[in-house]
Amino acid sequence: MIREVLRMGDPRLLQVSEPVTAFGTPELLGLLQDMRDTMDALDGAGIAAPQIGVLQRVVIFGSEQNPRYPDAEPVPFTVLCNPVIVPLSDALEDGWEGCLSVPGLRGVVPRWKDVRYSGYDQFGMPFEREVTGFHARVVQHECDHLDGILYPCRIRDISQFGFTDVLFPDQDIADD
Ligand code: NI
Repeated sequence: MIREVLRMGDPRLLQVSEPVTAFGTPELLGLLQDMRDTMDALDGAGIAAPQIGVLQRVVIFGSEQNPRYPDAEPVPFTVLCNPVIVPLSDALEDGWEGCLSVPGLRGVVPRWKDVRYSGYDQFGMPFEREVTGFHARVVQHECDHLDGILYPCRIRDISQFGFTDVLFPDQDIADD
């Protein structure tokens, strides 16, 4: 079921979410289905459970060809619960980000370029990956939501923050 996405200003987006303690349950699988339906309906590259008002440490992400990020390399669809992210070097990379909770806007955000992330799938199976670039960016953005951090909080140069259609008038980027 497509759920309403909370927008910046809602205090629930600033909360620290609780770890998942029971895997494979109808509640968790239903939550994940709603997250998937909502993300797909809005062409999101990812979504975190608190964005639909559920304060659990659950994110999903992935995109083959995303109209909101036409230049991004593909990221496999991933369910990630109770994530831990470790940077693999000191390297930071700037990149444009948007967020379904901050519709119509984009900003340049520094992120770790290379990270290892670990966590559990919806059935409690642990896994870890080493990733770089856009994949690393998406994971860091989604996991920030679990700690109540929205990307505008991480923008260093506020002159690189604005409305998508004004920033990129020649590109057909879907207005979220
Ligand atoms: Ni977001």
